[in-house]
Amino acid sequence: MAPLNRKVALITGANGITGNALVEELIRQPESEWSKIVITSRRPTQVFWQDPRVVFLPLDFLRPADELVEAMALLCHDVTHAFFASYVHTADFKTLKDCNVPLFENFLVAIDKVARDSLQRVILHTGGKHYGIHLGPTEAPVHEGMGRYEDYGENFYYYQEDFMFAMAAKRQWDWNIIRPHAIIGYTPAGPGNGMSEALTLAIYILCCQENGNVPVFPGNEFFYNTVDDASFAPSIADMSRWAATHDHTKNEAFNHTNGDTFMWKYLWPKLLAYFGVELPDTQEWQATGEDHTRMSNNFLMTEWAKGKEPLWTAVVAKHGGNPQAFQWGTWDFFDWAVGKAWVTIGSVGKARKYGWTRYEDTYECWVKTFRSFENAGVLPMIKGQGAFKPAVPRTKLLPNPGALAQKRAAALAEKEAAEAAAAATTMVAEGEIAALVAAPTAESAEEEAPAATEAPDIPAVAPKGDSSVVVSHVEQVM
Ligand SMILES: NC(=O)c1ccc[n+]([C@@H]2O[C@H](COP(=O)([O-])OP(=O)(O)OC[C@H]3O[C@@H](n4cnc5c(N)ncnc54)[C@H](OP(=O)(O)O)[C@@H]3O)[C@@H](O)[C@H]2O)c1
Repeated sequence: MAPLNRKVALITGANGITGNALVEELIRQPESEWSKIVITSRRPTQVFWQDPRVVFLPLDFLRPADELVEAMALLCHDVTHAFFASYVHTADFKTLKDCNVPLFENFLVAIDKVARDSLQRVILHTGGKHYGIHLGPTEAPVHEGMGRYEDYGENFYYYQEDFMFAMAAKRQWDWNIIRPHAIIGYTPAGPGNGMSEALTLAIYILCCQENGNVPVFPGNEFFYNTVDDASFAPSIADMSRWAATHDHTKNEAFNHTNGDTFMWKYLWPKLLAYFGVELPDTQEWQATGEDHTRMSNNFLMTEWAKGKEPLWTAVVAKHGGNPQAFQWGTWDFFDWAVGKAWVTIGSVGKARKYGWTRYEDTYECWVKTFRSFENAGVLPMIKGQGAFKPAVPRTKLLPNPGALAQKRAAALAEKEAAEAAAAATTMVAEGEIAALVAAPTAESAEEEAPAATEAPDIPAVAPKGDSSVVVSHVEQVM
């Protein structure tokens, strides 16, 4: 009997938001398909994986490739699919390439050498920065058909891609690139994760609640009211596995989003409601986002977070959770994520055409992620029991969208009527003056008065007498 052609995975960045989801994805696949799952991170893994296929290997990809080859030889010699999800975060986009380029190059040189005879696919995880959405307005939605932008040598994804393309051209293995947008997902090992919206926002909301403050949207008015999208980590992992295991998808890059879009205007109150916080009807805006080329923030989360740790300590003392978690907040990332004053949505059309079908409801992704952090004891179980309840009870009727238009029309009609009445009153008064000037008879004055209240039928009330008064009044009305 021929041996089974089973796959062996190497997942890097296993402590990270992407890598953790990749591990979760692969351990759900049958052993007949994935026989071994080597996972790696720089620090020890924080998760106890019961699946015996999982083997953890600590690796620092900023070490020289030769050292890595030696460390990887035993466990990685039979790797068929290498998923790269390691990342070193800096808030300054210009310096991202300093660590992230060698990080990937060392990894690739090492796995290419160690698994030369078995390697079939390398999967590089990058993101929307490929299209420059972090810098300013771009075509929207961004799509894989767009060319590279002029990055003045700064975009680390371009270096990573080019290095991979050059090596793949000389090898038998193929590649994929997965480009998610803001990732909503669980991270097992803080601090260290660079970009995590869900945990950051949960900590912010709970601290505001503790302080008795309304959690104000930190971004700008434009971004609150425009359309946005997100990427749920388990869905990214699903796309990554799908792309890596099909022949027709080889050597292709795919954008990832959940497949839906949302507006913060509606999502924000729902997320607050999850924690039992009600948003007042009115919001004041310090930052309008009118200049669509610049970041614009109501306030900076990085500033807000200064000195707020005692609030989190109080939350944890009352409700539970991890006292250290405040330091895991990725405040600078949140500032960027909602301070953009331009649209940053992406298209998953290409993946759909190639056959990837998964869809996520973004609000549910947030709730599921909160639940994971609650289960891990990072967030308190305050509202966790209510997860998946609709934010608005089904019996409560929302305002009729047409009511606003009707209200506006009624207000306009009322204003016009008031203006007309005021005009008519003025005309009556003027008519009386004119009548006095012209000294009409009692009957003729009675005939003219009702016509004046029917203004703006102005010619009908043209009084006898001083015509200059009439002209100026007509001009005023017109
Ligand atoms: N997070 C987002 O919202 C988002 C959005 C769009 C695109 N992306 C992109 O997705 C990719 C993956 O990022 P991520 O957000 O998943 O990363 P992450 O959560 O910050 O995790 C990074 C991982 O890299 C590991 N790492 C850091 N330095 C290392 C080193 N010297 N050697 C070996 N491992 C090291 C970390 O390990 P330790 O924990 O052991 O230090 C951690 O497991 C990046 O290209 C990122 O730009 C992310």
